[in-house]
Amino acid sequence: MFPQTRMRRLRYGKLKDMVRENTLTVNDLIYPFFVDETTDKKIDVASMPGVSRWPLAQAVDAAREAYDLGIPAVLIFGIPKTKDAEGKSAYGDDDVVQAAVRAIKAEFGKDLIVITDLCMCEYTDHGHCGIVNFETHDVVNDLTLPILGKIAVSHAKAGADIVAPSGMMDGMIEAIRSALDENGFENTPIMSYSSKYASVFYGPFRDAADSGFCFGDRSEYQMDPANSDEAIRETELDVLEGADMLMVKPGMPYLDIVYRIKQEFGLPLAVYQVSGEYAMIKAAAANGWLDEEKAFYEACLSMKRAGADMIITYYAKELAMILAEK
Ligand code: PBG
Repeated sequence: MFPQTRMRRLRYGKLKDMVRENTLTVNDLIYPFFVDETTDKKIDVASMPGVSRWPLAQAVDAAREAYDLGIPAVLIFGIPKTKDAEGKSAYGDDDVVQAAVRAIKAEFGKDLIVITDLCMCEYTDHGHCGIVNFETHDVVNDLTLPILGKIAVSHAKAGADIVAPSGMMDGMIEAIRSALDENGFENTPIMSYSSKYASVFYGPFRDAADSGFCFGDRSEYQMDPANSDEAIRETELDVLEGADMLMVKPGMPYLDIVYRIKQEFGLPLAVYQVSGEYAMIKAAAANGWLDEEKAFYEACLSMKRAGADMIITYYAKELAMILAEK
């Protein structure tokens, strides 16, 4: 008790550095970026200042920016030339993600981990994450699974180090694991977007990836923001189906979920600081209301404190620079 105990004793200078419980390092960071097959010039994403869609011919340049800063991994999203109801442009050997991965792996080999977002919503003209029954306006789970398997195999064939399914279909990890194994990719890990919430914070991403939907929303397959026990069940199934790494998405509004998932499963855990979280800090900083660098640093450090091992953030390059100066 006070006055014998004084918490402030340890809050000075170097001593404070010595007793720090959590740290953010460049090895925690994953840099996500968009490769766009419809353009030959970089396009700025208006709702995400500092984020661009990169033409396919510059995919290697995008990856190099992260690599040069010591960031160990990138996460690739594709914007295809053509879209249809079945997302056929998601799994061709020469489609956008496959071509980008091949080029990046040819350049950096084992020195840069390439993760691919594995979903149909950027490749379907209706914008949903699976096959749609247009009479019932339902996303048909079991018809979607074999396609996810096909996409996974095409990514692995192109050289992806990790596939990251984000569609929240039931049984998707099992389907993808089997497809990978049957095709000789038993060593390709799966990073499951295991607790992905139906969040308003994905708003800017839908501009960035051109993946808005023509009817409904994703609340019938993504999780209800009101639920926490459900995240445990959802994650447990993914673990049983063979997920190697887990994810919580979004990040900051869901740190309680990050904490619970890490405590419960102890698997490597990524947290996704999503487009809306990025846009909020950027907008506040642009108005002079927040210190941008400190706000991103604190937000990401908080994810580590909650239990994250990896942080997917559009601010990864800037953070890497900030960390190099610390
Ligand atoms: C695709 C996908 C989305 C995001 C990552 N993968 C969009 C969505 O589910 O609506 C969102 C990422 C972000 O907001 O930064 N399924």
